[in-house]
Amino acid sequence: MFVLQLMLMSLLLHRTMSSGTGRHSLWALASYIPGSAHFPEFTVVLMLDDIQVGYYDSKVDRVMRASTASDHEAELNLGQEPVTVLRDIYSSMKKRLNLVKHRFNLTIDGVHVQQRVTGCEVLEDGQPALIMFRDGSNGQDADSLLYNMTHFTYAVREGWEIQWDALKKTSFQMLYSNIYLPFCVRTLQHFLEREKHLVMRRVKPRLRFITRQVVGGAQVTCLATDFYPRHINLSLLRDGQPVDEGELRIGSVLPNGNGLYQVRKTLMVDEKELQRKHNYTCEASHLSLDNRLRVNWRAESSYSHRVHSISPLVFLLLAAVLLLLVLRRRRRRRKERSEGVATETQEQVGEREQSDDLVT
Ligand SMILES: *[C@@H]1O[C@H](CO)[C@@H](O)[C@H](O)[C@H]1NC(C)=O
Ligand SMILES: *[C@@H]1O[C@H](CO)[C@@H](O)[C@H](O)[C@H]1NC(C)=O
Ligand SMILES: *[C@@H]1O[C@H](CO)[C@@H](O)[C@H](O)[C@H]1NC(C)=O
Ligand SMILES: *[C@@H]1O[C@H](CO)[C@@H](O)[C@H](O)[C@H]1NC(C)=O
Repeated sequence: MFVLQLMLMSLLLHRTMSSGTGRHSLWALASYIPGSAHFPEFTVVLMLDDIQVGYYDSKVDRVMRASTASDHEAELNLGQEPVTVLRDIYSSMKKRLNLVKHRFNLTIDGVHVQQRVTGCEVLEDGQPALIMFRDGSNGQDADSLLYNMTHFTYAVREGWEIQWDALKKTSFQMLYSNIYLPFCVRTLQHFLEREKHLVMRRVKPRLRFITRQVVGGAQVTCLATDFYPRHINLSLLRDGQPVDEGELRIGSVLPNGNGLYQVRKTLMVDEKELQRKHNYTCEASHLSLDNRLRVNWRAESSYSHRVHSISPLVFLLLAAVLLLLVLRRRRRRRKERSEGVATETQEQVGEREQSDDLVT
């Protein structure tokens, strides 16, 4: 259930992710799911950028380091204020789900879920940049409020029960700009200080090409792995000219499973283009790098998919020649070994690795 909650939340959050753009954010991802005897009905995960820094639920009623922490050591000493705010969120979400149930006749048994993402962002220099909340019921967006230091934006789904009048709007705007914003920014600064060894990390990407033969050509993928923060610029060049984004299949930035990220961009290169033997470059710029990182790839004449377009006879001939070569080489090696001569130099090892890459 915990994983489900994080997944839903990351969907809600996607638009506002700011990790690595110089900004920092603190988000509370809150879920209210009544009716389970085994789980607390109200749970909150606190995220500083993309790192979980706290956990709260209606059973423990304290802010802990993580949901699995049971001892007192794991309690975060944040004072009473955050707990009060979290309890407010709890009761507000309870009310909202009751309204929804009433409005949509959801009295039948079943799991109903109320969710909220709420939090703030600061700029690099620590100045507040925005505060917002976003609510959803049973996985659907309900309404959201966003204040970016100059404008309030309130959006509500068509037909949604909770329609605020002008007075209500004003009072919420006051609450968010005068109470929640300073509180959230204070808490964010506190966590930033506490977790700076994680949040301020700069981990350089590793960059490589992976090529795969497919019908009609090759799939050339540039893969950047193991970097932090999340934000990266990755581009593909053909003979020094940027490849049009429309030609590329662009993957989204994914967690690598070790707190770092990965991303890939793939280009389909057809037979004709392969024969032109362009020089492909993959280029990354990232906060961790002073200069751009580059790797190059060029289709080799030995690129094995070419074999398919050759007639079977030639193929057989080639195979025979290869077999002969291999046999002869093996014989030579055996001879060399018996003479006690190490012949494989570093360069040869390197070459072999590279050609392995070409066929992965
Ligand atoms: C909800 O249920 C009541 C009684 O069962 C019914 O009168 C009402 O029309 C229903 N409302 C909606 C929106 O379905
Ligand atoms: C805030 O949002 C409004 C409306 O979307 C926009 O015009 C304004 O430039 C934004 N202000 C800042 C500081 O981003
Ligand atoms: C490919 O292009 C890059 C820059 O675009 C250049 O640095 C590199 O030397 C070229 N490689 C080959 C093998 O031509
Ligand atoms: C990525 O490119 C954008 C636009 O050119 C630029 O503003 C940003 O600073 C770049 N990010 C990195 C990490 O280089």
